[in-house]
Amino acid sequence: MHNELWYKDAVFYQISVRAFKDSNGDGHGDLRGLTEKLDYIQNLGVDCIWIMPIYPSPLRDDGYDIADYYNVSDEYGKLDDLKGLIAAAHERGIRIIMDLVLNHTSDRHPWFRASRSDKNSPYRSYYVWSDTDKKYEGVRIIFGDIEKSNWAWDDKTQQYYWHRFFSSQPDLNFDNPAVQAEMLNVVRFWLTLGIDGFRVDAPTYLFEREGTNCESLPETHTYLKRIRYLIDNEFPEAIMLAESNQWPQELSQYFSSGDEFHMAFHFPLMPRIFLSLAENNAAPITEILKDTPSIPENCQWAIFLRNHDELSLEMVTDEERKLMWHKFAPEPQMIHNLGIRRRLAPILNNDRCKIELVNSLLFTLPGSPIIYYGDEIGMGDNLNLPDRNGVRTPMQWNSSPNAGFTKGEPFTELIQGQYGFQHVNTEAQLANPDSLYRAIRRMVHIRKEHHVFGRGSIHFIETNDTGILAYVREHGGEKIFMIHNLGNSIKSFTQPGEHQSEYINLLNNETQDMQSMKLNPYSYHWMKKK
Ligand code: GLC
Ligand code: CA
Repeated sequence: MHNELWYKDAVFYQISVRAFKDSNGDGHGDLRGLTEKLDYIQNLGVDCIWIMPIYPSPLRDDGYDIADYYNVSDEYGKLDDLKGLIAAAHERGIRIIMDLVLNHTSDRHPWFRASRSDKNSPYRSYYVWSDTDKKYEGVRIIFGDIEKSNWAWDDKTQQYYWHRFFSSQPDLNFDNPAVQAEMLNVVRFWLTLGIDGFRVDAPTYLFEREGTNCESLPETHTYLKRIRYLIDNEFPEAIMLAESNQWPQELSQYFSSGDEFHMAFHFPLMPRIFLSLAENNAAPITEILKDTPSIPENCQWAIFLRNHDELSLEMVTDEERKLMWHKFAPEPQMIHNLGIRRRLAPILNNDRCKIELVNSLLFTLPGSPIIYYGDEIGMGDNLNLPDRNGVRTPMQWNSSPNAGFTKGEPFTELIQGQYGFQHVNTEAQLANPDSLYRAIRRMVHIRKEHHVFGRGSIHFIETNDTGILAYVREHGGEKIFMIHNLGNSIKSFTQPGEHQSEYINLLNNETQDMQSMKLNPYSYHWMKKK
């Protein structure tokens, strides 16, 4: 598996371990359950799994509130089970990255317990304390549905502590060299155990400075580079993936000159994939990509359609957000913070053509794609569950009781109705050549045969119809043309300057003349010269 740039060609798969597969009947998915399902993941064509937090945690934020950085929560198994998972995955050529939450701990973490126990505790300065809640005024509140301030009052020691997320997630004080050292140890611990890298949670907020928005500060970048330096020296094939919800210019700073993050989620692109579809207009996608700075050779964008959070709408204009809410969140309970707490299939009204179309964009736009577990079979969501839990329901394996997820009582109710496991499950879709799963799998496998998708340049092709999104990806002499019809009418496409050439559609092996192509509604075509 030796290949330092492996992440540039990789297809990623994001998993909630709790929701994936239960091995011991306690109703909670676990590491052994996930290990049992590696064949499924391999068959889909996944190169790297991202597992969401599995650390001991009071679960006030589904594990993004960590109480112990050096262990696995009992529900998921033991450290040995994680080692078993890593070994079994590596045997199949699959890597595993995990969440690394640097910015904050749980309020139950021993550091915070000590910190809040006494103003003179040596751990006091592990967190950000203040006599006044007027410090850092104007800094945005991310979990605005629940939190009204970034400061929380501590009765016992009569000061406020700083938190960018829930008040049960106090921010660590990165000005303290001891905190900086602790987190380097955490990084080293998991990489030594065999983990292949980290999805770094909320790296944007490590430092605070008066008079700024306390985001992406130079001090924060300097510290993140220290982590990278450690990785490069000790674990050269491990990666860091940034979860920073910012505009392209600011986002690209996380790559720095190739010595900070290997990868970063392209947050501004994601909603524009939906916008382009909603408006039958390629411009939202082409414009944001034209505004995206080029990045160093050893860096890569992570592109995604959905994840475990709400579909976040921070990186659009107010007008675009209104349009997105109107089209994709018609009921008020679908909106969460600024975003939309729904899964991919329901957002697109379970329209198979649209679901395939956006997946075609996911697999062919510049970057490495991340599939959210269950979206490859078109799973639904449960709006009755609070917060973002409705998109974290058990994976639907088959039509046996509890979807084949557990032999016990599942930790949460299963999806009912048209998206229920009786209708939507992996077993049925694997068996059916016309299923969504099979369409996604086909795209993944074709993608894997051509470096052009992970490494190639992109050039947009002008067309006479703003509802056609056409581009050519090119790398090392190979050229592949991608043509998408974003609307519901039949359109025709002419490839300028490519007269009389015969092309092969990689998706169905049919020969086509690109001089005049008929594009069915929402159709997508991956064309290569014969
Ligand atoms: C990230 C995670 C989200 C979590 C938050 C706080 O945004 O994706 O799920 O709640 O960080 O850790
Ligand atoms: Ca279990």
